[in-house]
Parts: sequence; structure tokens; C-alpha cells
Amino acid sequence: MDNTNDLAVLLASQYPLLLVEAQEEQRLLDIIRQAADRLSLPVWTWSATRGLARDGHHAQYQTVDPHVALDFVGQLSGPGVFVFADVHPLLTDPLVIRRIKEVAQGVRRGQTLVLTGPRNEVPPEIESLAHQWSLKPPGRRELHQLVKRTLDVFVARSFPVVVNAEEIEQMVDALRGLTITEAERLVQREALRDGRISPADIPALRTAKAELLNSDGILELVEADVGTLDTIGGLNGLKSWLRLRRRVMISDDALPGLDPPRGVLLTGVPGCGKSLVAKTLAHSWGLPLVLLDPSRLYSKYIGESEQRLTAALSTVEAMAPAVLWIDEIEKGLASSGDADGGVSRRLLGTFLRWMQEREGDVFMVATANDVSALPPELLRRGRFDEIFFVDLPGTDERAEILSIHLAKRGWDPAGFDLGRLVAASEGYSGAELETVVVGALYRALADEDKLTTGSLMKELAATVPLSVSRREDVVALRTWADGRAVFA
Ligand SMILES: Nc1ncnc2c1ncn2[C@@H]1O[C@H](COP(=O)(O)OP(=O)(O)OP(=O)(O)O)[C@@H](O)[C@H]1O
Ligand SMILES: [Mg+2]
Repeated sequence: MDNTNDLAVLLASQYPLLLVEAQEEQRLLDIIRQAADRLSLPVWTWSATRGLARDGHHAQYQTVDPHVALDFVGQLSGPGVFVFADVHPLLTDPLVIRRIKEVAQGVRRGQTLVLTGPRNEVPPEIESLAHQWSLKPPGRRELHQLVKRTLDVFVARSFPVVVNAEEIEQMVDALRGLTITEAERLVQREALRDGRISPADIPALRTAKAELLNSDGILELVEADVGTLDTIGGLNGLKSWLRLRRRVMISDDALPGLDPPRGVLLTGVPGCGKSLVAKTLAHSWGLPLVLLDPSRLYSKYIGESEQRLTAALSTVEAMAPAVLWIDEIEKGLASSGDADGGVSRRLLGTFLRWMQEREGDVFMVATANDVSALPPELLRRGRFDEIFFVDLPGTDERAEILSIHLAKRGWDPAGFDLGRLVAASEGYSGAELETVVVGALYRALADEDKLTTGSLMKELAATVPLSVSRREDVVALRTWADGRAVFA
């Protein structure tokens, strides 16, 4: 997970050419210097305004011209890391590309050419030589350093800073998922707002981060105050499966040999609690819930959709441990066919690769309504830990769900004839049962009456459940699930 480590490994592995995508150039340079330092390699940097210079030295004569700079590097025989900044405009020039290729082909031991920029399209000529790497969002350690450094500056300017070590940790947590620049800006903004750094700034940091994450609309930090898994009626298999995973996910008492849980796919009859599970799960586990909306990934620029997905996924990783929720996954990642020029195919590929390779503690809850649209790759064993089918509630479950929703609105379930209600609500989903309770309450309000079993019965009779109005669809869903999914 550590950027410096990763890069040091790449430098030591003798890749001739690294293409690094990074928004934060200064941070990248710091990391390159730290990594190079571990291997005792000198760092040279080139920019279009200054030319090529070895760290601590003046720029070489006339090397503002990238051709001259590349020739110069080509003639050096000693080891070194040669960083060319903001190269994307140059990568349209065939002569520059050719020179890069020749330099990369001719590198000696300990030499690595590094091309950086906020966004790099790799020209096909150098594709096979180039290794692509991108800076991961800062982890805990980097953010911790940043917060400490920022607070030290405030203290030095005799700014009141009244946070203890534990609160500093909370600040770091609140900032996870942001870039260093964004994090720094937020801390400073909160400090200036009331002229001090205090615990009161922590919730403000969280809110500000939620807004930043949501600025491109792909990720949303869901502040779900929906209760715990216990407020879900039924779904006992799924609930106990999740409770068992909790121990591995958030505490360290995992048994040796037990892999951390990765995630579940929930499909099933609409309105039976799929989204509810995602929301209550994060709350029960005390983890942030990040919603990824795949339909927002689409961009008309080739390659950009995948880039956005990669960036979004690494943001989530930086917030780990976290729950990643992808609602209606079939809508964005899996729509089949090439109608969109293959974008959804490539997005799916990017996503599957991430599912396979990720190391962070991100537990994923994906939900799908239209299972027939899901590509088989996504359903293959090993992608999700389990695929659950959330079916219509049975008799006991309906009693539980009615009780939960009555109690939630201040009515004691013991005052109702649950047996009658359950018998009359065969085929109703959790969402429909909730609507019945709400509807009956309104009816009672209109009639200036109390809520009774009778008013609930009336409301039930007036509702046609989906399982009746769309019987074939529900049957088809169940048939699909048989043998493919575990009934939740
Ligand atoms: N098992 C349940 N226990 C308690 N409440 C439930 C249950 N199932 C559904 N509900 C109620 O119905 C609402 C809607 O359910 P939810 O959004 O989770 O359904 P869904 O399976 O995601 O449906 P969709 O396929 O339409 O997205 C929930 O917010 C909750 O109030
Ligand atoms: Mg839903």
C-alpha cells in the first residue's frame, strides 16, 4: 500500500521506462526522491521551463529542448532516475517519441526514465517498453504526517490548537480518501473558520470530505443513520454470514489462513431489503459507507471512464476499512454488448481486475435487480465471497418486518393481531409491508382513529403486491437463483 515502497521495487526491477500518472507533482517528486534514495540513485528532473538538472545542480546547457535533454540522458552511463515532468504535450511529437524509445531501449544498469503528468496517453510505439504506474491516494501514515506538520505550523504561529493524540487520529480518519493538497486545504480552512483547531473541526472535516468526494458524482459518502442489521426482518442466513465476517473485517482475531472477506452480491425480488442491507451493514460495522454510481463513470473521451473508475476505487481503498456499495451494478458495469463502443466491457474488465488484485480492507456490497444482464465473469466463483438471493419474506419474517415498522413509529406490535396480518400478506415485500403500515397510519389520521389491526387489514387489501402484478418476473428471478445463489 505504500507508494514509496512500490516505486522503490519498480526502480530496483530495472524497468527502463515508467509512465506515472499523478495530479500532485510535488508529492510525486518527494516520493520518487525517497524511493531513489533508498537505492542510492541520483535523481534528475526535466521541465519545459528549466531543462534537465541533477538534484542540487544547475540545469544542463540548452536542455529546455526535450530532444537535447533526451540525447543527454542517452549518453550518460551512470545510474540515475530521469524524471520528465508534464510530458503529455510532447507525446504527440513522433520525434520525441522515437527518442524516448531509443533512450529506453539503451538504458544501462540502474537507469530509469520516468515520464509524469496528470494524464498520460501511452503512444503505441512505446507501449511495450513502458510500465504504467499511478500514485495511490495518501495512506494513513502520509496523512498523519501532513496533519502533524500542519498543526506544528499553527502552533509555531501561536494559533490555538486544542486536540489530543486521539483527536488527531480522528482528523486523519476524517481526511482519508483525499489527496494531500485537498486534505491540507481542508485543515487550513477549518482552522481559519473559527481561528483555532479543536475537536469541533472533526465533523466539519468529514462533511467537507463527503462534498469533495461527491464533486464528480461518482462516489458518495452515505451518512446512513438507518439502524443496525437487527432492524432488518428475516434474512437470517445473510445476517449471520455477515456477523461472522465482521470479526475478521474489523478485529484482528482472525484465524490464521482465513482470507479477509471481500464482498457479496445481492440479487432478488425488488423491495425486499437489498439496499437496506448495504446501509445497515456499514452502520453495524462502524465503517464508512461509500456509494459508487457506475452510471456516472461514462465519459465520451476514450479511456477516461476507466481512469475515473480506477481513481474512484483507489479513493475507496484509501478510506479502508470501508464498505463499498455498488447499487444496481448491472446498470453501469455490466451492460452487455458493444453499443457504447465497448466502454462498459472495459469498465467491467477494470473492475474485475481490481476485485482480484485489491489488498485493502474494502468490503463490497453489490446489488443487482436484473440478474440476466450480469455477465458470467462477474458471477464466477472467487469474485464475490457469496451471491445471495433476497426473496420475499416468509410468515415469520413478515411478522418481524411488520413489528419493526410498527415499533419504529411508536406502536407496540403486541397490540396487533400479527397472525391475521401475516396470513393476509402472503407475497408482500418488506417495502410493501412498510407502505401498508404508513398508509394505514395516514388512514387512521384522516379518520381521526387509532391504528388497529383492522385498518392495517384494509390497507393490505387495497395493495396489489408486485409478486402478483408481475408474477412471471418474480418466478423468473427465483428460477435464476436456484443453484446460482444462496437464499438469504
Ligand atoms: N427485510 C426487511 N426488513 C425491514 N424493512 C424492510 C425489509 N425489506 C424492505 N424493507 C423496507 O423497505 C424499504 C426498501 O427496501 P430496499 O430499498 O432495501 O429494497 P431493495 O431490495 O433494495 O429494492 P430495489 O430492488 O427496489 O432496489 C427499506 O428501506 C425498508 O424500510
Ligand atoms: Mg435497492
